[in-house]
Amino acid sequence: MTSRPETEQETAQSAVCAIEEKTEAKAGATRKVFVRTYGCQMNVYDSERMTDVLAPEGYQATDDLEDADLVILNTCHIREKAAEKVYSELGRIRKVKEQRAKSGKDMMVGVAGCVAQAEGEEISRRAPIVDLVVGPQSYHQLPSLLNRARQGAKVVETEFDIDAKFDHLSERAERPVQKRAPAAFLTVQEGCDKFCTFCVVPYTRGAEVSRPVAQIVTEAERMASSGVREVTLLGQNVNAYHGQGPDGATWGLGRLLRRLSEIDGLDRLRYTTSHPRDMDDDLIEAHRDLKSLMPYLHLPVQSGSDKILKSMNRRHTRDDYFRLIDRIRGAVPDIALSGDFIVGFPGETDRDFEDTMDLIRRVGYGSAFSFKYSQRPGTPGATMDDQVPEAVKSARLAELQALVSEQQKAFNASRLGMHCDVLLEKKGRNAGQLVGKSPWLQPVQLDAPENLVGTIQAVEIVQIGSNSLFGRLIEGQDETDFSGAIPAPAAQAG
Ligand code: SAH
Ligand code: SF4
Ligand code: F3S
Repeated sequence: MTSRPETEQETAQSAVCAIEEKTEAKAGATRKVFVRTYGCQMNVYDSERMTDVLAPEGYQATDDLEDADLVILNTCHIREKAAEKVYSELGRIRKVKEQRAKSGKDMMVGVAGCVAQAEGEEISRRAPIVDLVVGPQSYHQLPSLLNRARQGAKVVETEFDIDAKFDHLSERAERPVQKRAPAAFLTVQEGCDKFCTFCVVPYTRGAEVSRPVAQIVTEAERMASSGVREVTLLGQNVNAYHGQGPDGATWGLGRLLRRLSEIDGLDRLRYTTSHPRDMDDDLIEAHRDLKSLMPYLHLPVQSGSDKILKSMNRRHTRDDYFRLIDRIRGAVPDIALSGDFIVGFPGETDRDFEDTMDLIRRVGYGSAFSFKYSQRPGTPGATMDDQVPEAVKSARLAELQALVSEQQKAFNASRLGMHCDVLLEKKGRNAGQLVGKSPWLQPVQLDAPENLVGTIQAVEIVQIGSNSLFGRLIEGQDETDFSGAIPAPAAQAG
């Protein structure tokens, strides 16, 4: 949500073990798995599915590293610092493993995710405590890979077979319903064919693959019946979704969202991350038509300079982006826009950077993520001339983040006095408080009894904090009375 003071975007630091899991432990064989998730939301989803796959093997999730028979680091490779963090975490885990060994207890260590895919065997060479390296497309094979590792082999599995992954993972989901958090992720598309010149994702996640509509609907229905009220559809290019529909035709994201909006109990839909090139009319119309599609859109542009956009291979100009924003705001005037920005891409001059600042001023964001360009080995950007000095990148990042922060404050302040629906997700910091999300993805804190967790309530926004809003329950008001917020007559039709 927020622009960060540093270059890092850590959307998923929390260990997945925090998710309440009821496992079907084999009699007498309860083992503990600790999963730490780095990187994007897709890793959060994958971590949850890994614990699903391990549950029938007798594994229960734990958030206590020292108690773990199996540790899995689900890693991110997007920037240099992300991978380095994994190696320093492995150093800490080695000490815990040695400690456990003293009391005769074993600990297996697995590295999953994008670093696993990119570095493969190199990981166990650099960190010999690692027993298993598994790429993002092979999680369905975890039980058999663990068996091999238990027999003493150093296992490295980095095949690309996304279809097999989803076929198998969706079977696993047919286990009895579990209690889930009220807001959850669902991957509908994985991989990327765009090859932006700064980015490792096409190499770590492979080619773009969309899951069939029926498989997604089944999974979403199961989530709704286990208490999920809000689903965020995930994909590296989620709006490039082109899955096979039950009618044999290829469905786009707009049509998929329409179908999902019919599921009982799924009151809120979101999706991320979108590419400007793939934002078609049907999807924009879905925003206009669907009450359950929340008025928030993460639409990264990366730069406001045509020269840099071209060199990044983004395949659109700044004017294309402005026209697109106009179309989106034509459909949903009050939508909260978010984006990603990279400063200091090779060849970026003061003038190019000023174009980015100008774009931000003209668009007006509700929030944004921003990063210093990080050279990724194997990507074209890494070997381009005119790499930008670190100090220049830092200065530009600070300037950009100050502007975004100002815009974010103004957007948040514009909610003061509004009535809107809030999905209450968990207990707040203080006793008697709950925290939820506004339609625009802002955290909202309010006084409310704990039994309201998992419900959507009508709330008046009474105060604005630096990163969150403060609200008050509107007594006797049913959530379904609001489509988005009032007063905001043009906000969300339907
Ligand atoms: N698929 C999404 C982005 C995925 S990566 C899209 O197309 O927009 C998330 C963000 O990380 C990117 O939007 C970009 O801003 C940032 N990023 C990716 N590679 C980077 C690099 N080499 N250096 C700095 N930031 C990077
Ligand atoms: Fe990376 Fe570009 Fe693909 Fe996004 S569209 S995942 S930034 S290559
Ligand atoms: Fe990171 Fe891989 Fe996601 S590199 S951002 S975990 S797709």
